[in-house]
Amino acid sequence: MDIVCSSEELKLFELIGNAAAQLNVSCYLIGGFVRDKILGRPTKDADIVCTGDGIALAHEVARMLPGKPQVNFFKTFGTAQFKLNGFDVEFVGARKESYTSESRKPEVTPGTIADDQLRRDFTINALAISLNKQDYGTLIDPFNGIEDLQNKIIRTPLGPDITFSDDPLRMMRAIRFATQLGFDIIPDVFEAITRNKERIKIVSQERITDELNKIMLADKPSIGLDLLFRSRLLKEFFPQFVDLYGAEFIDGKGHKDNFYHTLQVIDNTAAKSNNLWLRWAALLHDIGKPATKRFEEGHGWTFHGHEVVGERMTPRIFKQLKLPLNEHMKYVAKLVLLHLRPISLTKEDITDSAMRRLLFDAGEEIDDLMILCESDITSKNKVKVKRYLENFEIVKQRLKEVEESDKMRNWQPPITGDQIMQIFNLPPSREVGILKTTIREAILDGIIPNDYDAAYKLLLQKAGELNLNPV
Ligand code: CTP
Repeated sequence: MDIVCSSEELKLFELIGNAAAQLNVSCYLIGGFVRDKILGRPTKDADIVCTGDGIALAHEVARMLPGKPQVNFFKTFGTAQFKLNGFDVEFVGARKESYTSESRKPEVTPGTIADDQLRRDFTINALAISLNKQDYGTLIDPFNGIEDLQNKIIRTPLGPDITFSDDPLRMMRAIRFATQLGFDIIPDVFEAITRNKERIKIVSQERITDELNKIMLADKPSIGLDLLFRSRLLKEFFPQFVDLYGAEFIDGKGHKDNFYHTLQVIDNTAAKSNNLWLRWAALLHDIGKPATKRFEEGHGWTFHGHEVVGERMTPRIFKQLKLPLNEHMKYVAKLVLLHLRPISLTKEDITDSAMRRLLFDAGEEIDDLMILCESDITSKNKVKVKRYLENFEIVKQRLKEVEESDKMRNWQPPITGDQIMQIFNLPPSREVGILKTTIREAILDGIIPNDYDAAYKLLLQKAGELNLNPV
């Protein structure tokens, strides 16, 4: 098995081997570093396991290194870590672990390298390479991890029920690795996820969401989202997403399955952008559909207002999933609210004023909104797709023109609220709001030009109607 390491990495590994020899312990590279090197994927950290005290080994290695990096260590876990030119090196003593059923905290006793490999999550993550003089560079692969890497298979070293019960986060990890690497989870392991799904409740939401975000950032997030759905793990922590599943029929009329439609929209978005939050907007764009679904006689299925309901659901879902309650959440909510706007413009609606409104409402997010909107075209009806795409191109072109002539992005009306308060000596009040809106709407509708004089004239006129006089 050929593994390509940089000369710095090789120097470091040799030095770690020497430090371990001085402390009279054995040490090994293990886990993700070995897996990713074999797969030829980039690596940014390395895990070292030693038969002895990992913290002592980390200190000895750091002492022997020219820069003497600072070692961070966690006595309770027996782990230590330092950074070397941005490369993270972690040390741990080989462990034998057993878990109690109530918590994720294991009972840990010192063990051999074989014990340590046995308690790891997947065969492809249990591969170790010796850094010891007598067998330096030898691959230790007790569970045929190499074969599984070649066959692109996710399998557990122990029976999957034990592995998942020991640490239920591994169910998320199995699906995450399957998505990132394009591997298959063997049926036995997949069935164990379904059997153990409720155990995910003992894992903190932050860690679950961390894995979910890694799935969302993969090339084709739908792979993992579908596995989460089919294993029923998704329902345990994100039931609103599962509610999108299924198509109902009345009088022979059905609606599309919004769960699989959403997966397609996420993949389409992912093909165009690496922005995690744009992908989240794709995930949530139709989340308000189950709550707004109606069957109207002679008309069929409707989801009126689902974009408004979706916008309102977004903060609740962010809170539930422990996603950040900051500008990212606002961005996602805004895109969910606006996702129908560009495509809902029919040829007749594509007036300058409609374009200005769209640009004003979307602001900085207009390009991302257009990506989301185009990704939302997933109909199987070729005629419909053609019509939508043509329309979409017209909207795009007109947006560009209006943007260039009117500079509407991040546009602010020529008279601000503060100025209105000064002109009429008003405190913040309903009247200020009315005057502000009058100017904004008149400019957006093209009734007056976008300049100070025209705005001031309209302001005086509207103020007169409200019995207000400038001071
Ligand atoms: N591991 C495990 N069970 C977990 C987490 C980690 O058995 N719940 C083991 C695996 O052997 C894994 C190693 O610890 O390879 C390192 O874990 P981590 O750094 O979380 O993952 P990597 O495999 O390195 O992959 P990535 O960096 O992509 O998360």
